[in-house]
Amino acid sequence: MKKALIATAIAMATVMFCVLAVRSQEVDRQTKDVMKFKLHFAQGVLEGIATENFDLIATNAAKLKALSQQASWQIRATEEYQHLTTEFARCADSLAAAAKNKNVDAATVAYFQMTVSCTTCHKYLRNTRRADAGTPSSLPLAHRLVKGNEPNENRAN
Ligand code: HEC
Repeated sequence: MKKALIATAIAMATVMFCVLAVRSQEVDRQTKDVMKFKLHFAQGVLEGIATENFDLIATNAAKLKALSQQASWQIRATEEYQHLTTEFARCADSLAAAAKNKNVDAATVAYFQMTVSCTTCHKYLRNTRRADAGTPSSLPLAHRLVKGNEPNENRAN
């Protein structure tokens, strides 16, 4: 009887463990998807700017703003991360306003500011990750993007 109870307890613990493992992978996957879409929509904005297609700018700016409001975007509870998210959303708003006013110069400036917000947030993530080394999550592509920017920054001054 005791053995049966222990066996049941072990079986239940195993099931719980599997459920939790799958859940956390699911959250990870959703976050990854959200992050990947950012690049896709940002490219859409750039295409809109290059071809003066204001509808294309407007729809992609709205999608970028919506992404930043999704639960899977919120991977850090820090004030700094919130601030960086707000800044990103502000750039998306500026893009939308520029598209509405059919002002390609304003859209170009807002796009530039948004790109700065991309790298600022990725740098923040990289630095904080370094500080708590040992966290399993990684930032492969974003790392490469940010690393690729470093030599230019040094050259600028
Ligand atoms: C407020 C913070 C923040 C901003 C702003 C931000 N990102 Fe990210 N980015 C993240 C996080 C968080 C990840 C995922 C980190 C991880 O995988 O652990 C990420 C990952 C990525 C990835 C890698 C996705 C993958 O497949 O692993 C790309 C590409 C990316 N971001 C593009 C962009 C672009 C383009 C912008 C600007 C238009 C941007 N990001 C702005 C936080 C941000």
